Amino acid sequence: MRHFVNLNDLPTETIMTLIEDALAYKNGSKDVKQSNRLVANLFFENSTRTHSSFQVAETNLGWHQVMIDPQTSSTQKGESLSDTLKTLGAIGVSVVVLRHKINDWYAPLIKEATPYMPQLVNAGDGNGQHPSQSLLDLVTIYEEFGKFEGLKVRIVGDLSHSRVARSNAEILQRLGATVSFAGPEDWYPADFDQFGTYTTFDDDLADLDVVMLLRVQHERIATVENADFSPITYHFEYGLTEERYNTLKDSAIVMHPAPVNRGVEIADQLVEASKSRIFQQMTNGVYARMAILNALTEEN
Ligand code: CP
Repeated sequence: MRHFVNLNDLPTETIMTLIEDALAYKNGSKDVKQSNRLVANLFFENSTRTHSSFQVAETNLGWHQVMIDPQTSSTQKGESLSDTLKTLGAIGVSVVVLRHKINDWYAPLIKEATPYMPQLVNAGDGNGQHPSQSLLDLVTIYEEFGKFEGLKVRIVGDLSHSRVARSNAEILQRLGATVSFAGPEDWYPADFDQFGTYTTFDDDLADLDVVMLLRVQHERIATVENADFSPITYHFEYGLTEERYNTLKDSAIVMHPAPVNRGVEIADQLVEASKSRIFQQMTNGVYARMAILNALTEEN
């Protein structure tokens, strides 16, 4: 694994090793190998969880962070992403963790035949992929159920603007889960039919093992659509209300990549409810990212 840009490009065996490594870091059964590698975290889109949890994962592994802010970098003077990355590589940065609004921003870069290109980690590309989020979601599900085969997973909400939905739908199907989708019809991408079934939130709700809620991505929605958006209507049609929560079986879990729009995708008081794994997902994110960075070191 020279780069970590799309979980769905990796063999199942590699993904299962990453999940097991993350859980082994969490329970203390895997040695935390220290390294003095240099890493830069470049976030061209806003982030709280992904950015800070990569920083914690890097710190846990002994890595040193080169501080660079895209807002004050020479990308603002027109320097290309490729030249910025090769500059970092030339001064000794081994890995760049990068989030950008452009889908597949990494595709041309990983093809460049240059020794100066650092190893790249995709921290989110447009509405394409969010592979480290997807891995932490898999870690959370596997920690809970010890398997993926046969689990009924429903992904609910703003499917078309969500990189989390696309990353997770494909890999969960490959790992043997039965995936279904619910949410506004206008926000359902037709190509999701290849990963699961489009239905209503309430369909067979009591049979589900995992309900994965998605944030309404206002920053990716047209102004006119945002102006027409009613949080209250959305909540009752597509949100996790108390009634829906109580219909879920006791063993079911509720997930959300966060940030959460409380009272929209999920009733405020349910974010910390017993079936919610939302904060556990964030904790697992550190271990998942340690597993990713360690795998990049081993393959280098
Ligand atoms: N889940 C997620 O990617 O959160 P951030 O945007 O805060 O990183």
